[in-house]
Amino acid sequence: MKIQAATIAKVRRAALHAVLLPEGAKLDQDSAAGRTAASILRRKEWSAEFRKTLLVYGEGGRERLLLVGLGKEKEINAERLRRGAGLAVASLKNLKLKTLGLELGTRAVPAAAAGSALAEGAVLASYRTPARRKEEEKDALQGTVALLAAERQGEAFAAGVERGTIVAEATNLARELGDLPGNLMTPSELARRALRVARARRLRARVLRPRDLERLRMGGLLGVGRGSAEPPCLIELSYRPRRFKKTVCLVGKGLTFDSGGISIKPSANMEDMKFDMCGGAAVIGALEAAARLELPVRVIGVVPAAENMPGGAAQKPGDTLVTASGLTVEVINTDAEGRLILADGLHHAAQLEPDYIVDLATLTGACVVALGHDASGLYSNDERLTALLRQAGDESGDRVWPLPLFPEYQEDVKSEVADLKNSTGRDGGAGTAAFFLSRFAGERKWAHLDIAGTAYGGRKRDYLGKGVTGAGVRLLSAFLEALA
Ligand code: BES
Ligand code: MN
Ligand code: ZN
Repeated sequence: MKIQAATIAKVRRAALHAVLLPEGAKLDQDSAAGRTAASILRRKEWSAEFRKTLLVYGEGGRERLLLVGLGKEKEINAERLRRGAGLAVASLKNLKLKTLGLELGTRAVPAAAAGSALAEGAVLASYRTPARRKEEEKDALQGTVALLAAERQGEAFAAGVERGTIVAEATNLARELGDLPGNLMTPSELARRALRVARARRLRARVLRPRDLERLRMGGLLGVGRGSAEPPCLIELSYRPRRFKKTVCLVGKGLTFDSGGISIKPSANMEDMKFDMCGGAAVIGALEAAARLELPVRVIGVVPAAENMPGGAAQKPGDTLVTASGLTVEVINTDAEGRLILADGLHHAAQLEPDYIVDLATLTGACVVALGHDASGLYSNDERLTALLRQAGDESGDRVWPLPLFPEYQEDVKSEVADLKNSTGRDGGAGTAAFFLSRFAGERKWAHLDIAGTAYGGRKRDYLGKGVTGAGVRLLSAFLEALA
C-alpha cells in the first residue's frame, strides 16, 4: 500500500472515504453519503464509540463513506488512531477497492504524531504474511493507495505521515523475516537478507562465519550451532551518520529455529519456534528505520544467528562452554540457548564501547506468563535508559514494562563447575535469564527486552493480526529519535 498526505478534497474523492470521529462530533459534508451519515449521527442511531464503524452509501452506491469511532475525545491517543486506520484498511480490503481516503476528524493528537500514527496503522494493516501455495492468490491490497488528511492540515502532519510510513515499512520488513519458516530462514539466509538491507540503505555490514567465531572464541554461539547442519554466524550492521553524539548497539537473538536441542521441546506449538529470530529481525528493521530517517545517532546492530537442533554433534546437558568474554557456562538445559548466543553477542557489543546496549530476544516462556502479549519485559542496569525506553514504548504503542534485576538472582545462576549455569529452576525464569545476560554487558549501560510474548500474535491490535508483529522496531525507532 502506498501512503500519501493529501488535501481533504482529494481524500473525500477516494473510492472509500473513511472519517475517524470522536463521540459527539458533527459531520458536515455535502456529499449524498455525507448528508445521510450526518442525519444518522443526529438521530443517534450510531455513535462514535471506539472501534464502532458504519458504512454509508450515496445515491446509486457511487460514494462510500466509512465512519470509524474513536471514542471520547479525552481518551483519544495515537494508539487509537493506529487502530482506527487499521479498521479502515480492513474495510478497503473487504470491499476490494483500490483507494482509501483517511480523514481525521479530531485534533486530540498533535499533528505530527497523528500523521505518523495513521500511516503506521495503514501500512502495518496492509502487511501480508508470506505464503507458499500452488495457486498464488492475489494480494487484495496490492496496488492500493491511502490518502491521509487531517482537519487542519500542516507540514507537521505530512512529515508525520512520512515518518510513520518509514517506521511501519521497516516493521513490516522485520515481520516478513520473522514469518518465513525455518527451512527458508536459516542463519545464512538471515545474513543474506541483512546484507541486502545494508546494500539498499548504505550501511556497513559484515558477517562472521564459524572460522571467525572460533577465532573470537564465541563458545556460546558455536555450542548452540553444533547440533545443526546449518552453520551459525554473527551479523553486524552499522549506520554511521555524518554527525552524531551517541552510539547505540542493538543486539538481537537470531535463533532461526529452536527445537530445544537435546533437551528437546514437546511437539505442541513447536512450529512457533520459527519465530525465535524475531529479536534479530527487529534489529535489522531498526537499522533500516534509522538509516531511512537519517537519525543523527550511530547505530550498530549485532545479530548472533543459529539453529538449535539435536544433531549428532549437538551440545549436551552437562557440557561446559567458554564464551568470548572468558566467562564459562555449564549447559544444564540445551533449550536455554538464547542466553548462550546472546552472551557472545553482548560481549561483542560491549567491546565496541557504545553509550547504550539494548538487546531483544524471544527469551523466556516465563516472561509470557508474567506480562502476556501486551508488553515486552524490560530489564536494565540504568534508570535513564529505562525511562527512555518506557517513554518510547508508550508513544509508539510498542509497549515495554520494567521488571527487576535483583542481585539475589546471582545465587540462581551460580554453577558448581563453571562461572555460570544456563538454566535455573522455573521460578523467576525471566529475571534469572536477564541476570545471566547482564554478566556479559560489562560495565555498559544496558537494557534487555524479552519479546517472547509480543513478537507474534498481535490479534488484539486492529493493525497487526496473526503472525509476527515486528515488536521492537517501532519502539527502537522512537527511542533512537529521542536520543537524537
Ligand atoms: N525460545 C524460547 C522461549 C520462548 C518460549 C519464546 C515461548 C516464545 C514463546 C527459549 O529458547 C526457551 O526455550 N526458553 C526456555 C528456558 C528454560 C529452558 C530455562 C523456557 O522459557 O522454557
Ligand atoms: Mn529454547
Ligand atoms: Zn529460543
